[in-house]
Amino acid sequence: MFTRFRRKRIHPVLRDLLQETHLSVDDFIYPFFARSGTGIKTEVASMPGVYQMSIDEILKECDELKKLGIKSIILFGIPDLKDSVGSDAMCEHGIIAETLRKIKMSHPDMFVITDLCFCEYTDHGHCGVIDPVLKTVDNDITLDNLSKQALIHAEAGADMIAPSGMMDGMIQAIRGKLDAAGFVNLPIMSYSSKFASAYYGPFRDVAESSPKEGNIVGDRKSYQMNPANRNEAIAESIADEAEGADILMVKPALAYMDIIRDVRNNTTLPLAVYNVSGEYSMLKMAAKAGVIDYNAVMMETLIGFKRAGADIIISYHAKEAAALLQK
Ligand code: PBG
Ligand code: ZN
Repeated sequence: MFTRFRRKRIHPVLRDLLQETHLSVDDFIYPFFARSGTGIKTEVASMPGVYQMSIDEILKECDELKKLGIKSIILFGIPDLKDSVGSDAMCEHGIIAETLRKIKMSHPDMFVITDLCFCEYTDHGHCGVIDPVLKTVDNDITLDNLSKQALIHAEAGADMIAPSGMMDGMIQAIRGKLDAAGFVNLPIMSYSSKFASAYYGPFRDVAESSPKEGNIVGDRKSYQMNPANRNEAIAESIADEAEGADILMVKPALAYMDIIRDVRNNTTLPLAVYNVSGEYSMLKMAAKAGVIDYNAVMMETLIGFKRAGADIIISYHAKEAAALLQK
């Protein structure tokens, strides 16, 4: 006698009955890149199907998303002016605050999350204020600024705040500021285990946020994690839980499936994964080259994140995946 696994794989209905993991349109968060102006919808060369958009285009896009059943977006901003501290991000008339108010006015049913960081807003491209001696980000001054930025987003109507800068103590600082201002019910989704990854390359094209070489460190290795570290990734997420994060995150996703499972097994909090720009672009370019069945590889990748332990998937594929799930 031997076990016949195949017995349960023959009838397609039985295969469906026995499927352990499912993808749903409810799992997705779709990223938006906002800039000022009107009628702007500029495709990013390295990310086919992803655009920098002005507010009018974003509002139209929200209609498209709702038709597909996508109810949740994460906003990134490209400001008109960048400076050393990222002032646009701390101003109630900055690109995110303005965009947020208009989205919530036209689409009150859309759940709008804001990415909280400074790399898109600083002229040097780092995720905070530079310490002239360290030549990289000053943690504690940046905490004050992150708290200010969080309050701007909260007041402009954000439904959830997602700090992505990997500063130590950021969740505690932001939570304290939000609570003191009365935003006790505003959830925080922390980019809790975020690696210094080359997979962010195409995002930095669209967000125009690469750290500039020169007088400062030209990478984010002094605040984002070493891709080789597993225990530290668990510790990072657990620390953010202790600081009051409501949802944790592993980012990137594809090369970090083990970390997704590790964090899943070490917390009861909901877990998000960020299926990042480079992961998206690889599939797009492989499809263009005719070497993969794009839809099949995309769905297999996405279900893989769920199987690894993700509850939420932030993905540039969300619209395409939602369309396939509707069939
Ligand atoms: C900002 C931020 C980045 C991403 C999300 N938020 C870039 C970075 O850390 O350089 C990456 C998203 C992607 O690659 O799709 N800190
Ligand atoms: Zn950043």
